Amino acid sequence: MSRTVDVGDDILLSFSTPVLARLHPDYQTINPFLIEAILGRERDCASISKSNVGSWHSPSDFLQWDCAEIASVVEFFSRSVKTLNDYAVGPEKQSGDMDASAWANVSRAGHYHQPHHHPDSDWSAVYYVDDGMRTGDEPDELSGRIEIMDPRTGVSMLNTPGQPFLGNLQFRPQPGLIVIFPSWLTHYVHPHAGTGERISIAFNAKMVNVVPAAKKKKSLKESLFG
Ligand SMILES: [Fe+2]
Repeated sequence: MSRTVDVGDDILLSFSTPVLARLHPDYQTINPFLIEAILGRERDCASISKSNVGSWHSPSDFLQWDCAEIASVVEFFSRSVKTLNDYAVGPEKQSGDMDASAWANVSRAGHYHQPHHHPDSDWSAVYYVDDGMRTGDEPDELSGRIEIMDPRTGVSMLNTPGQPFLGNLQFRPQPGLIVIFPSWLTHYVHPHAGTGERISIAFNAKMVNVVPAAKKKKSLKESLFG
């Protein structure tokens, strides 16, 4: 999926919202260990009740679990948040640190997550460990998909030819995929239709100790629209 455009100096993407999706380069090695750790913790720990309906939701202590492969996912998440934050803010505009928390989710057939957003967080993410689909499962296009709702009030009432304003954004669970988005975006998860466990890790990141860099000369676009 590529939506790269060169907007030039006279078009302002005034309400654009950055969302990142990329694959962990070594997910086939680390995911089996993550599956074992998460299903093991599920056996010993009662579910937290949040947006989950039926799903097991761990406490937000995933980053403290004793599992060596967690470090690889956290490094991948941190690097990806930096990419997204640098894009959104501009790498020359600020420096700082990141406070992160994470939790694991396990969904079985019929389980889903209600619409919600993540308060007191800047960037949120989901990393897929297992899509829960097994050989012989009935195909279901929407199974376990995360749907991020278009925040622009009224855009769904339009039917402009060519759909220039797009709409909601969906991602199919895919082992190794991470999706990162601004925490204020409302999102939900469609019911899981597979016979296996759909396993994911959710993250929140808050930017802290941020120091804005010195102001630089305004570009033509910033002068016109800023
Ligand atoms: Fe969420």
